[in-house]
Amino acid sequence: MRRQIVTHLLATYLFALTACTGDSESRPPSSGELLYRQALCASCHGYHGQGAWMGPPLEDLNENWSRDTLQEFIRDPTVLTESDQRLSRLAEKFPTAMAPQSTLSGDQRLEIADWLLSR
Ligand code: HEC
Repeated sequence: MRRQIVTHLLATYLFALTACTGDSESRPPSSGELLYRQALCASCHGYHGQGAWMGPPLEDLNENWSRDTLQEFIRDPTVLTESDQRLSRLAEKFPTAMAPQSTLSGDQRLEIADWLLSR
């Protein structure tokens, strides 16, 4: 009887131990990352922002964006897509240019921008 209890405790302990030692892949996503998926950015840019047939990969964004220019672009990408040569060339490679995201608040756009710039 006592032996059973010890075995049970040991099993519980080992289970707890393995559950706690998650690697970086299993850490909970940030709110910016969750918003990115809820706002359907992922449907064009891929689940991890790796790019897909509807949108380019979202990598090394620090080279071209600050959090302010990025959140403004997310709010309404149309003006910049027309005036910025790099973006208009990029848009030509995809079936449609990026559409405005009117349902997101300013804070939500900043959270997405922070997450994208932190990767
Ligand atoms: C309908 C598909 C589509 C959706 C939805 C979409 N995008 Fe885009 N996105 C594009 C395309 C196409 C481009 C290429 C440039 C352009 O059209 O302005 C782009 C460009 C971008 C860029 C610039 C990339 C660079 O190299 O500088 C960022 C950043 C970006 N998108 C973020 C987002 C975020 C964040 C969301 C969600 C709020 C989103 N996109 C939703 C299609 C999409």
